[in-house]
Amino acid sequence: MIDRIHHVGIVVHSADDALGFFRDTLGLTVTEDRVVEEQGVRGVLLALGENEIELLEPTRDDTGVARFLQSRGQTLHHICFNTDDVAGELNRLKAAGVELIDETPRDGLAGKIGFLHPKSMHGVLVELATPPAGAHVSHDKGFDHLAVTVADYAAARQTWKANIGLDVTNEIRVEDRGMLIGQMPSGQCMIELITPLGPDSPMAKRIEEQGERASSMVAIEVQDIDAEVAKYRGKGLELPDPAAGALPNSRTSTISAEQAFGLAIQLIQFD
Ligand code: CO
Repeated sequence: MIDRIHHVGIVVHSADDALGFFRDTLGLTVTEDRVVEEQGVRGVLLALGENEIELLEPTRDDTGVARFLQSRGQTLHHICFNTDDVAGELNRLKAAGVELIDETPRDGLAGKIGFLHPKSMHGVLVELATPPAGAHVSHDKGFDHLAVTVADYAAARQTWKANIGLDVTNEIRVEDRGMLIGQMPSGQCMIELITPLGPDSPMAKRIEEQGERASSMVAIEVQDIDAEVAKYRGKGLELPDPAAGALPNSRTSTISAEQAFGLAIQLIQFD
């Protein structure tokens, strides 16, 4: 079964440059770093509690990842879920008529892997992975939440439940931002389905322009956001002063995607 988020994958121009941020500034530990020849990428996994961040650097120009980098720039590429039986999950999805990129598992950075087509997941590229024995395991909280923006909330909710087994357990209306958040727990992380409350919401405009997609953002819970912001400012990063977040009783500040190789890092403290 699918039990938690394994990693988010981001595409970068240079894994070495990105390591200067994720390893040296954020302090994450590299668990895997190798070139996967048949995919034309150098992949690096960095552990963050029970989750990981995957850096993907194209090593040649004729791959999907290279074309993605050319057209979209450095940004989130996919969300990967951990399962003990990737072959069984792909068979289940295929039998249900879900469009897949991989109908059978292949070797990837995270173990035996397979991708669903983003058309099947409201614009989100989803990977499933069964890691090899001895792979990194942690029971610490990793990401606090990820966000995916959807136009048709009811349909997206149905899709995530049917395909990945996640369900909305809590809904939050954020009137002043014109959005509804549906929280789906996956391990210790929430995946937020975010949808506009009406056609005038700024989010509605963004969906019209960009389509449904995953936000290139991970939120990480911190105990003392003022100290964290001061720490990263001391390392030369620019962060706004912590302010009330969209989630109840939260304060947030964000390391922008521009400073974080395409993946915004939201720091969130719950009071
Ligand atoms: Co991946």
